[in-house]
Amino acid sequence: MPLPPSKPGVCFVCLGNICRSPTAEGVFLAKLREHGLEDAVRVDSAGTGSWHTGEPADARARAVATRRGIELPSRARQVTPEDFDAFDLIIAMDASNRRDLVALARTETAVAKVKLFRSFDPTADPGAEVPDPYYGGEQGFDEVFDMCERASEGLLAELRGTHGL
Ligand code: 4NP
Repeated sequence: MPLPPSKPGVCFVCLGNICRSPTAEGVFLAKLREHGLEDAVRVDSAGTGSWHTGEPADARARAVATRRGIELPSRARQVTPEDFDAFDLIIAMDASNRRDLVALARTETAVAKVKLFRSFDPTADPGAEVPDPYYGGEQGFDEVFDMCERASEGLLAELRGTHGL
């Protein structure tokens, strides 16, 4: 008997796993819920660094998310080489995250799973990044949220194409 198609999994990755990737995770989960697809995709987030392990998302990220009507469920953890086996896409927020992820990948198949999040946004320039809002004010977190919304639309469209959701 053929194996059932496996449920696709995506892991969003930034530096600290407290600002951008938790926002990406929460926004994409909300997008899936909006389309009744919350059980069709595995969604997680992680950081290339370990400084904030165990922490909830940054209070500014949570404030912006609450204002926009969603929650950010993540607890920070560091990305591992095993994540490249567990997920179909490892989605970097910026070029520096992408470099760190490519360095961690053990096979060409693993390297091919690393994508820039904004590459799923057809209106974004090639190589566009989700900038680190950590050292700025709440406005930067609002901008991150907007970017995550646009890229999440494109990511869902991509998964519909590749996994027939
Ligand atoms: P994130 O933001 O990568 O979007 O979670 C940061 C969070 C913490 C630090 C840097 C960026 N930090 O240096 O502690």
